[in-house]
Amino acid sequence: MSLEKLFIKHKSDKYHHGYHEVYNFFLNKLKNKKLNILEIGVSDGASIKAWSDFFKNSLIVGIDIKKIDLKKKKLLKKNIQIHQGSQSDKKFINFIINKYKKFDIIIDDGSHYPKDVIRSFKLLFNSLSLKGLYFVEDTQTSYNHFFGGNPFDLKYSNTQNNFFKSLSDSLNYNEIANPFYIKKSYDGLIKSVSFFNNMIVVSKDHNNIESNLVINNSYENKRYITKINRDKKKIFQYFIKYKILFKSYTIFLFLVNLLKKIVLIRF
Ligand SMILES: C[S@@+](CC[C@H](N)C(=O)[O-])C[C@H]1O[C@@H](n2cnc3c(N)ncnc32)[C@H](O)[C@@H]1O
Repeated sequence: MSLEKLFIKHKSDKYHHGYHEVYNFFLNKLKNKKLNILEIGVSDGASIKAWSDFFKNSLIVGIDIKKIDLKKKKLLKKNIQIHQGSQSDKKFINFIINKYKKFDIIIDDGSHYPKDVIRSFKLLFNSLSLKGLYFVEDTQTSYNHFFGGNPFDLKYSNTQNNFFKSLSDSLNYNEIANPFYIKKSYDGLIKSVSFFNNMIVVSKDHNNIESNLVINNSYENKRYITKINRDKKKIFQYFIKYKILFKSYTIFLFLVNLLKKIVLIRF
């Protein structure tokens, strides 16, 4: 049965949100694989049952801050395991990671509070397998102050949407033409970040591709090496141009932006 039909059958609101289209796009090809799947937020177990039927060869782990009556919710199935705890509780999440080691798919359909969503991602990212997928639902809370979002300062507020937008810098980190750039924890491990209506999907994989513009985050060094390889006689001229003039310009802009960040307290 298709995911769409399973969401309807088990009465999951994932169908009404239109999330089945996104899930279908990313997950249909994984249907018969043997995977470890974690969903944050169990509630009546509707989606857990849909995952359990769809991924017949996989283990479905559900976590919820509330106690879930497995018998009443008809969740007593061989490939379903449910635990009680909070998605932002480091001790609890570490217990889950120690128990299951790795997850191939993680779905955050829990509190939807930006701070919880960001914290869970940070706590769980290491346990996401390479080529794994991390889904975040109901990201509209980013734009609603009654849910801890911020509709008044879209660009600089501490919301899950801004957090996941910043991951696009991690997937392009090698292109950042700042020789003083310090590699961050997600750099080189984000293959893609996809934004849909109220939903975000992060795909994890090695990603260290470098274009022809920079080497070790430096445009000046790349140009210098390219040029002297073409014409070794002009080594002094190129040294002055790229290593002195271009570098000074970069250092100047670096210091201007550092000052701007300090004044605006934006790091
Ligand atoms: C939208 S419902 C989940 C629906 C379910 N995934 C489905 O599609 O059928 C959200 C669930 O998240 C749980 N929840 C809320 N805050 C949480 C937290 N901090 N940690 C874990 N679960 C939480 C709630 O108890 C609720 O059952």
